[in-house]
Amino acid sequence: MKSILITGGCGFIGSNFLRSIVSVRKYSHIVNLDCLTYAASFENLRDVENDSNYVHVKGDICDKILVNELFKKYHFNHVVHLAAESHVDRSVSNTTDFLSTNILGTQVLLEAARSVGVEKFIHISTDEVYGSRSTGFFDESDALRPSNFYSASKAAGDQIAHLYSTMYKMPIIVIRSGNCYGEFQYPEKLVPLAITNILLNQQIPLHGNGEHIRSWVHVSDFCRAVSILLESENFDGVYNISGQQLSNLEVVQTICSEMGKSVSDIIRHVNDRPNADHRYAPCGDRILKNHNFKADSDFANTVPSLIKSYVRNEGWWKNIRQSSAFKENYSKQAAGLWY
Ligand code: NAD
Ligand code: DAU
Repeated sequence: MKSILITGGCGFIGSNFLRSIVSVRKYSHIVNLDCLTYAASFENLRDVENDSNYVHVKGDICDKILVNELFKKYHFNHVVHLAAESHVDRSVSNTTDFLSTNILGTQVLLEAARSVGVEKFIHISTDEVYGSRSTGFFDESDALRPSNFYSASKAAGDQIAHLYSTMYKMPIIVIRSGNCYGEFQYPEKLVPLAITNILLNQQIPLHGNGEHIRSWVHVSDFCRAVSILLESENFDGVYNISGQQLSNLEVVQTICSEMGKSVSDIIRHVNDRPNADHRYAPCGDRILKNHNFKADSDFANTVPSLIKSYVRNEGWWKNIRQSSAFKENYSKQAAGLWY
């Protein structure tokens, strides 16, 4: 049996991914390295935490000594690197943490993986690295033109991962996915913010005219893609994951209509983010052609069960929303005060 390192396993995607692999029982050791930033939670790991194959290590991916020790101790066959500072709004005022984790932390992991040799290193990048385009789609060979500190730091991490694969011939896969949504997403992101604001009877701050387009991917589709790539013998380079192209207004409208609210009553237009990206458009043909993967969840069809999960887990998100880490940032975010 193999061993796997997952970084950022207490975050939104990481916890969903961990839950999806623990039940498969393919790994002798599943190590979750997560330093527990404001975005971390154990709430989605209840099923996993007592599993004998699973261990959480509280630590920073930038900590070379710790990271090297873990690679020597567990001889990881696979790495799925998700840990990151992930929220665009926070990257305007808190740039240093983004550069440190998303660039330096990535390099520390890649170097440790190189020194011991791993069978596969999956680096989770994002479709934001391509920047925005009004028509057409980005394929994996398109240039990276990030337009905020989050996406610039992710683009640097993405390119460093690529360099390790070309310079050292390491078995590295880079995934650039569209916007994920699903259970246990920290409620500062559009979908969980909209649902929890409606549950709290608060308005939803909508940036600009709300016509920005994102490529929406259910987290279960994302996790399935990572598992397919982990299992495949035949892989190389970069894979986009594309979902449903929907505007922010369409996303909010779908949530409102499911929750019996009128969108015009519930939204409040606020200033757009500085340098806001109008449209993300990753093309998912490569992973479809090479690995027969397509993200096929439909946003409108999955929204009812998603809303139910936020109702069911009310204690979890209410605690977060009462925390100073949430409130301090949200007071600026909700007012469209970016600097
Ligand atoms: P998240 O913010 O919910 O979770 C990030 C996790 O990483 C947290 O548990 C945090 O404690 C941990 N972490 C942060 N800095 C760390 C450090 N220095 N050392 C160790 N742990 C650290 O993020 P998410 O939404 O789950 O995103 C996961 C990954 O997927 C990120 O790399 C993100 O860039 C990428 N991504 C996210 C989306 C999306 O829509 N959520 C889409 C495409 C790509
Ligand atoms: O595209 C992939 C990216 O998707 C990931 O790399 C990021 O980690 C993830 O956070 C997400 O980035 P976005 O900036 O697209 O997600 P967010 O939910 O913050 O915003 C989605 C859109 O909704 C964006 O156009 C801004 C707008 N928005 C967002 C919030 C939080 C609003 O109009 N109002 C809001 O309150």
